[in-house]
Amino acid sequence: MKPLPECCFCFAEMMLAVCVDVPGGSENLQLRTIPRPQLKDTEVLIKVHATALNRADLLQRRGLYPPPPGESEILGLEVAGTVAAIGPGVKRCWKSDDRVMALVCGGGYAEYVAVPEELLMPVPRQLSLCQAAAIPEAWLTAFQLLHLIAQVKQGEVVLVHAGASGVGTAAVQLARLLGAIPVVTAGSAEKLKMAEKLGAAAGFNYKEENFAERVNDFTEGRGADVILDCIGGSAWEKNVSCLATDGRWVLFGTMGGKTVEGDLLGKLLSKRGHLLSSLLRSRSLQYKAELVRAFSQRVLPFFSDKPASLRPVIDSTFNLDDIAEAHKHMEANRNMGKIIINVISQSPETQ
Ligand SMILES: NC(=O)c1ccc[n+]([C@@H]2O[C@H](COP(=O)([O-])OP(=O)(O)OC[C@H]3O[C@@H](n4cnc5c(N)ncnc54)[C@H](OP(=O)(O)O)[C@@H]3O)[C@@H](O)[C@H]2O)c1
Repeated sequence: MKPLPECCFCFAEMMLAVCVDVPGGSENLQLRTIPRPQLKDTEVLIKVHATALNRADLLQRRGLYPPPPGESEILGLEVAGTVAAIGPGVKRCWKSDDRVMALVCGGGYAEYVAVPEELLMPVPRQLSLCQAAAIPEAWLTAFQLLHLIAQVKQGEVVLVHAGASGVGTAAVQLARLLGAIPVVTAGSAEKLKMAEKLGAAAGFNYKEENFAERVNDFTEGRGADVILDCIGGSAWEKNVSCLATDGRWVLFGTMGGKTVEGDLLGKLLSKRGHLLSSLLRSRSLQYKAELVRAFSQRVLPFFSDKPASLRPVIDSTFNLDDIAEAHKHMEANRNMGKIIINVISQSPETQ
């Protein structure tokens, strides 16, 4: 990101943000003072209380996942905070200080972010702003994959890879909410136990056992109706061998590599399998607005029922100036659930 000439600073209101001037390791994350975003007509300015990490942030920091054209170059795909200013063309009745959470295309690692009004959601009353920051990216992704892309039906078996990840912990709970039967893979007994607590019917340690055999045992040879796959290359053969006939295999990440060698097409064809893929960040504003609307109507109320049917899973909380430590924690695959970044200090009762 190019530093602005000093004369610009005298006219702009300023904020703290995490900047990456040179792509690279976590040491390249720099906390700096930069101008606040300019509010467009139909945007709401959010005073960010908390943001959360996503795997995509690690790639963007390394220069491997640039923001869509025209979007903020600052990292951060989700925020929770309060309404600080409202554009003159905003139609919904947001008020100053309303508690909101939002999916953003970038700009979350900062004290203020401007968000199209369609992407704002109210924070459920029972949740703190820290808990709310764990919701937008992981839960909207999981909802999109299960509901819009795979069109999961009641009673179907859904294999969720990385079952203790941010997206995985949301997908397990949502699969249950939709009446499906989630089973997971993860790399440790602790992660599997956590996924099972959240509702997974079974869990398999992909480092110690052949998950495809275990899924086929679990389904009595039928295979998984749906696979949510953020692994890609290293797991393709096992995935296709435990996909049910006519099953949907939804690729949404490539943590295990992007290349495939072997008889993928032949094996997929013999199962009449549907290979689907999806990315959320590059979708149009209209698509995201529709997704946020459907999620707000169909899922958000379940964070508020008593006892709550759904809960954001928080692994750990870091302050903004410890952002490099937070990135290292995720890079080492240590987190179970979301890593939250406090952008402004939270009093104990608001955490
Ligand atoms: N397409 C989209 O729109 C979209 C949106 C959001 C996220 N995503 C993707 O969803 C995935 C999860 O994101 P997240 O932010 O929730 O991640 P996260 O919380 O950082 O969790 C990722 C976990 O994946 C597991 N993992 C890492 N490398 C692996 C490998 N090679 N093989 C098997 N498991 C591996 C690790 O757990 P173990 O200890 O279990 O190995 C790691 O802790 C990422 O691939 C991300 O890019 C996609």
